[in-house]
Amino acid sequence: MKLVIGPASPLLGKRIAEKAKLEIAESVYKKFPDGELYVRIVGDDDSYAVIQSINSNDDLIYLMLILDALSEKDIIAIVPYMGYARQDKAFLEGEAVSIRAVARMIESYADKIITVNIHSKNAMSHFKKLINLDAMEVIGRHYKGKDVIMISPDLGSLERVKRAASFAECDFDYLEKKRLDAETVVISPKNIDVSNKHVVIVDDIISTGGTVVEAAKQLRCKSVEAACVHAVLASNALNKLYNAGISNVIATDTIERQISFLTVSDLIAKALEEFV
Ligand code: R5P
Repeated sequence: MKLVIGPASPLLGKRIAEKAKLEIAESVYKKFPDGELYVRIVGDDDSYAVIQSINSNDDLIYLMLILDALSEKDIIAIVPYMGYARQDKAFLEGEAVSIRAVARMIESYADKIITVNIHSKNAMSHFKKLINLDAMEVIGRHYKGKDVIMISPDLGSLERVKRAASFAECDFDYLEKKRLDAETVVISPKNIDVSNKHVVIVDDIISTGGTVVEAAKQLRCKSVEAACVHAVLASNALNKLYNAGISNVIATDTIERQISFLTVSDLIAKALEEFV
């Protein structure tokens, strides 16, 4: 099996190739002047693993074209960040269920799909061949031995944060969040005594940063930092976070950013062992 490294995941791809001892397939990616994309995969192996996160429309088209270039082969598609998963149902009549469309596209080519912390169980239900890995262990281990408390910004993320806290061997709690629209969330005050604590707000995604900023406003504590799996970082999110007094922001490399200090390569390499 060879590994095709898509343009969205160069560093994570290289790390996985080293850890899983996979040869990297030669690939060519181009964008034409009109914005259309082009993919060529050179070589004639029978089976391929493909790694490409989906954090933009170009990422999605590149993934589709890579899969198409390999259509006659056995394919494991590794999509560390599965974009479009937040539209996991029709919230309003007539809406597309975006993740269903993405799932159908990937599953029409791939024999297995590996992702990391897909946004919801509902999103997962649209796939038939998906392995969903959990990076809370990676975040938790990073904080092991540090004097912190982990806070989930909402009840929905509590289970995740509880798992991270179990690896960090620290306390955890949660806040209550209501989302008004894509950019606005309200977090209700809650009586958590963190006055003597260093707080880490743990979430699956930091997109606009609104959730972390609003959560931090509710906490009177020594310091607040934020840790997430997927650093989507839309709309100058990092500026917003640092301006709001968040002392540090860290993420994994499911989306490759300057704050991707943690890696999910061990998790993915281990999951691949079963197929190599
Ligand atoms: C929501 O359910 C997710 O777990 C995250 O809290 C959310 O996607 C973060 O988005 P933002 O950074 O835009 O508030």
